[in-house]
Amino acid sequence: MGSFFLRPSPAKSRQGRRPGLTGLLLFVALLLTPSTVAFYLPGVAPNDYRLGDKVELDVNHLTAQASSNTDHRLKSIISYDYYFPPFHFCRPSAEEGGPQSKAESLGAILFGDRIFNSPFDLHFGRNSSCQALCRSVVPAQDAKFINSRIQDNYMLNWLIDGLPDGGQQHAPKTVTIAPSVGIALGRVVNEQTSYFHNHYQIQIHYHPVDDTRNRIVGVTATPSSKQTPADLPLEATDRLCDSVEPQALSESGDTLVTFTYSVEWIPSDITWGTRWDAYLFNMDPQIHWFSLINSMVVVIFLTGMIAMVLVRTLHRDIARYNAMDAQEDLQEDFGWKLVHGDVFRPPAYARLLSILVGNGCQLFYMAVVTLVFASLGFLSPSNRGSLATMMVCFYVLFSCAAGYNTARVYKMLNGAQLKRTILLGAFLVPSIVFAIVFCLNLFLIGSHSSGAVPGGTLVAVIGLWFLVSAPLTFAGAYFGLRKPKLEAPVRTNQIPRQVPDQSFYLRPVPSVLIGGILPFVAIFLELYFILNSIWFQKFYYLFGFLFLVFIILVITCAEVTVLVCYFHLCAEDYHWWWRSFFTAGASSFYIFLYSALYYSSRLKFTSFVSSVLYFGWSFLMSFLFFIMTGTIGFYACLFFVRKIYSSIKID
Ligand SMILES: *[C@@H]1O[C@H](CO)[C@@H](O)[C@H](O)[C@H]1NC(C)=O
Repeated sequence: MGSFFLRPSPAKSRQGRRPGLTGLLLFVALLLTPSTVAFYLPGVAPNDYRLGDKVELDVNHLTAQASSNTDHRLKSIISYDYYFPPFHFCRPSAEEGGPQSKAESLGAILFGDRIFNSPFDLHFGRNSSCQALCRSVVPAQDAKFINSRIQDNYMLNWLIDGLPDGGQQHAPKTVTIAPSVGIALGRVVNEQTSYFHNHYQIQIHYHPVDDTRNRIVGVTATPSSKQTPADLPLEATDRLCDSVEPQALSESGDTLVTFTYSVEWIPSDITWGTRWDAYLFNMDPQIHWFSLINSMVVVIFLTGMIAMVLVRTLHRDIARYNAMDAQEDLQEDFGWKLVHGDVFRPPAYARLLSILVGNGCQLFYMAVVTLVFASLGFLSPSNRGSLATMMVCFYVLFSCAAGYNTARVYKMLNGAQLKRTILLGAFLVPSIVFAIVFCLNLFLIGSHSSGAVPGGTLVAVIGLWFLVSAPLTFAGAYFGLRKPKLEAPVRTNQIPRQVPDQSFYLRPVPSVLIGGILPFVAIFLELYFILNSIWFQKFYYLFGFLFLVFIILVITCAEVTVLVCYFHLCAEDYHWWWRSFFTAGASSFYIFLYSALYYSSRLKFTSFVSSVLYFGWSFLMSFLFFIMTGTIGFYACLFFVRKIYSSIKID
């Protein structure tokens, strides 16, 4: 059941596996024949190796990971370049041009990948029990730096044939925290003592395609700490790796460290198309079903409420209002009909509202299209950063939706300064995002982290923004303005009506906070996995689930807003424009609170900068989520209000 949700890679379908029944039913509308997904994105085609071929080992940044000696909590989110000088790792020789950066996608760079080549000399099929890499002298100051990184549980991240090293691939299926990918920088004995890993036992699993060609299907590297005698020459490989004494780095003087490794090539039954399974299938899928059911319950509950209110009450209201008119009754109006002369009065800050709604549409479309592509299996984990690249591309492309919707909403709200609004719309939200990212970047630079976005990439992002995104916004706005104005179904009175005193739970802040809970409840279980995959760098691959949860989120936001709006109108409170935005958007407030909870339960940062980064990113995510959900609420409510006021007769 649901194998579709668990098996993301396009290679899978090529292996002839059919999506599960549920997946098939759900996506049949999106996809005519599921097996047509079987094509490769660039960089995902297999590499064939012959005996003796050189196999590249690439090194990515060092990242902290949770481990059992930190009670499974993460101690830092600052990453470092592999060739950051204090580590003293062996570099490719100067004749070969020194460390060279590998070309990466925009998304991979933005999300922190920094991949370089390495001096490891691996040849396909050639076992070797001991090879020397180089010797480095680690001074006291750097030893201190490395030792505290070992205490924080930093890991080396290697890639062989695009496959990350999986330290412990075969974890029990029932754990919710996926096992770490990566090679520990060192071993922690206690808070004062740690050993530095300078020997790597590399095992590469391969699958023969035919007599000569082979493919790499699995990589594990087991690190160990070996104090090699300093007088032993690097050529003495028969004795170099024999030491059983662990290597500690002295914080009071220089330490000579010898880096060594061994290589084993092991034939394997795993085929190339399934080689990612070991990395991906390490979570209990049941918990995702549970999260989905949880979300469903929220939706069913809300839909029940809506059905009750709208179908019964509203119907009765409309029938009564219209019957009264027919009788020419002089009886006073009551309920939501009373505010018909005020309900379409444009709100304060109409410009800001239309800009936010425009940007919300942009985010919404980006999310939908990315999720469709991701759940169809277009994102392969071998294509590093493809998710982020895709999101950036779609975000930029849908700038036209932002312009279009801003223009239409602003025109509907009788806005007078169209040009200024469009201009502001193209820059307001992106500027906020950019400013936050820029500030966080300063912290990253200050802590020498490789996670800092390089200047060239920042320039590229600004270029994308000014040269592609902004013109698209203007183009969208042009088409939005050419559309006829969306007229209100009832006339607005000259003089605003007095809003009567509201009961406590209908006052702005309580009603918004109550409304925001439900969308949050619908998604919070899935949110836990998303946060895990972001901060613990796990592969997130259950995009089918995520897509369903997203649909549920949209439905919930819309329903909650309509319900809250109806109660307000019945209480003769007609300030619904902004409130509809905030009612659905308030779920982001809970998401931020949840991030804080996650911070205190799953993370245990040793540095202030990590905390700043964490809350900065959490704020940014919540902010964007606010705009997106707010927009969903706004449009749902607009549709609802227009619908009910156009169905009653007003004299
Ligand atoms: C290399 O080592 C592995 C595991 O020890 C063994 O299965 C394989 O046959 C060896 N290959 C060669 C060429 O000796």
